[in-house]
Amino acid sequence: MKTLIFGLCLFVTTLGTVVLAQEPSSMETHQQVIILLGPPGSGKGTQAVRMSKQLEIPHISTGDLFRENMSKNTELGQKAKSFINEGKLVPDSLVLDMLFDRVSLPDCKKGYLLDGFPRTLAQAEAFNGQLTPATKLVVFNLDVPDDIIIKRAEGRLTCKDCGAIYNRYFSPPSKEGICDKCGGELFQRSDDKAEVVQERLRVYHEQTKPLIAYYAEKGILQNIDGTKSPDEVFLNLMQKFSRTR
Ligand code: AP5
Ligand code: MG
Repeated sequence: MKTLIFGLCLFVTTLGTVVLAQEPSSMETHQQVIILLGPPGSGKGTQAVRMSKQLEIPHISTGDLFRENMSKNTELGQKAKSFINEGKLVPDSLVLDMLFDRVSLPDCKKGYLLDGFPRTLAQAEAFNGQLTPATKLVVFNLDVPDDIIIKRAEGRLTCKDCGAIYNRYFSPPSKEGICDKCGGELFQRSDDKAEVVQERLRVYHEQTKPLIAYYAEKGILQNIDGTKSPDEVFLNLMQKFSRTR
């Protein structure tokens, strides 16, 4: 009964927030850019898929773009592969060229959502430098402690075909190894091995975490408790987003 009431409240609040977030006024007059910051495994991809669907703006994940290039064995994919498999960051120059090419496509005109970019102060500065006065930027930081991150990464499964994200501990698919959404095969990412996750976390604390202070100083940072359930995190994101507009 308690769960039913909670579910009902969540549904009603989400509906209200979503209606608010979709009011046409602001989205039509400026370009809305959303950045999702957070450690590896904090839920950026999980939430980005939902937000981009809700707000009807493209979801751009630099990690997904690199993995796509790696699976097609492009020159960029070959260059990025060793950095990714060792848990290091891909050099800024490769990231920036790829990112600027992507955000200049027509589908980004109204706005877009960045997942996993920027990851260094140099990337953040370069990105800022190309924004126009018409761009409205909001940054969400998904806060999740390291011990939870390690468990999440270890259990993550991703669909080869549609990219849907599962977790063998927290949100398993109904049929083992098969995507509920499209029937595709689920796989474990090569950089989700325990030792690589440790290195990704180390790199995060050293190079990406300083971006929290960087965007807080600009007055555009919103902190989100990323340890809550995916539904609650989504609700908090949409509520905070609607208040920024
Ligand atoms: P990237 O693909 O961006 O990886 P990441 O930042 O390490 O983040 P993840 O994708 O691992 O986690 P996530 O936050 O998306 O969490 P998810 O939603 O999947 O980058 C990979 C690599 O590419 C980098 O290491 C680097 O080498 C390179 N790269 C990419 N961008 C770069 C850049 N800008 N500069 C330089 N190099 C770059 O969730 C994780 C798991 O937790 C899932 O199983 C999910 O089901 C579960 N989960 C999610 N939310 C919850 C919740 N609320 N409760 C319980 N479980 C949850
Ligand atoms: Mg991701």
